[in-house]
Amino acid sequence: MKVLIGVTGSIASYRTPELLKRLIAMDIDVEVVLTRGAEKFIGAASFEGLIGKKVHSSLWEDPMAHIHLERSCDLVIVCPATAHLISKLNSGLADDLLTSILLAKTNNVLLVPAMNTNMWKNSLIIKNVQDLEKKGFSFLNPDKGLLACGEYGVGRLPQIDMIFYEILFHLEKKSFKNKKVLVTAGPTREFIDDVRFLSNPSSGKMGFSLALNAWIKGAEVTLVAGPGTPDSPDGIHRIDVESAEEMKNAIDDVYDYGFFTAAVTDFSLGVRRKGKPSKEDWLKGGIALEKNPDVLYSNIAKFNKIIGFSVYSQGTSLDAAKKVFKKGADYVVTNNVANCFGHNDTDVELFDNELNSTEFKEMDKISLGRKILDIIGDEND
Ligand SMILES: Cc1cc2nc3c(=O)[nH]c(=O)nc-3n(C[C@H](O)[C@H](O)[C@H](O)COP(=O)(O)O)c2cc1C
Repeated sequence: MKVLIGVTGSIASYRTPELLKRLIAMDIDVEVVLTRGAEKFIGAASFEGLIGKKVHSSLWEDPMAHIHLERSCDLVIVCPATAHLISKLNSGLADDLLTSILLAKTNNVLLVPAMNTNMWKNSLIIKNVQDLEKKGFSFLNPDKGLLACGEYGVGRLPQIDMIFYEILFHLEKKSFKNKKVLVTAGPTREFIDDVRFLSNPSSGKMGFSLALNAWIKGAEVTLVAGPGTPDSPDGIHRIDVESAEEMKNAIDDVYDYGFFTAAVTDFSLGVRRKGKPSKEDWLKGGIALEKNPDVLYSNIAKFNKIIGFSVYSQGTSLDAAKKVFKKGADYVVTNNVANCFGHNDTDVELFDNELNSTEFKEMDKISLGRKILDIIGDEND
């Protein structure tokens, strides 16, 4: 897999090396092309140190550099893309290496603009972006926030994570196309009053990874996210919930696949009281635990395939898996409580319903989500 990153003369170009690091960590081969504007902001050495080879900036370095580079890459990304680059491209101008490559590339170009709000809202830029979209160029639009010029508005380069996910989306084979996937993620919180709740340390990273990877592979994804679940790309339909009851009720459609990764709090404490009753008040009345609804079991009929997740601290992983198979799961992923909550890396075992298992050791959760989907989605090939 090879991508070409074009960098243009935006103040946001200092963030592009971070994106490069993410791609290199995924073993993606990267070529870098700088415009004259970009060279004023960030030196070639910053990129060359990261990719271990020369960056490109001149049309004349090799008589056919623009064609050779374009043909050798699966995807061209311009990050950041200036107003100037967008307008030149829409006019068909090719006075430097990057614009020549972009004109020669007939598909798979992703532009990530960053500029001052007034520039982004300028009717000329709006029209150029719309025209380019019609011609098949993809855009990841800027975020809203405080801009380098000190103004507040839309124009910020999106978070590097979101750009990275969008790149993966453009590179990946769509083996989950036309599949509807639901993922539950994170902890639930069971409030006893307005300031106190019962919960657990789940970070939502595993569920997030499955939702992300299913989206990257072309699925229509709904993520029912408990508190703290990482931000997800706009292409994922996200429903933020707090309690087990809300999580259960958020599942109101039918799906091809259901990944039940959420660490649903097993108990609630009855009716939520208003405000912040005193400690004495709480101790006087005592607290009685009530069993929460089983989110997986109560929604089982809405799924064609169910993948349950089970954390265990006693017995074997097989015992833990059998418990979830009893509820009707088709696959179960187990992990030991010692190394699951909150970490980026984890050890898990994936069981099919004949109790054959595959072990994954010290794997980061993003790669693990991808592996699990590859195994479960085999039938989609
Ligand atoms: C300090 C500074 C910051 C700039 N930041 C941006 C920016 O974020 N977005 C943008 O579209 N242009 C920005 N510009 C203007 C571009 O650098 C200018 O339009 C240049 O011609 C772009 O050339 P290029 O697209 O070939 O790199 C900035 C200019 C300066 C001097």
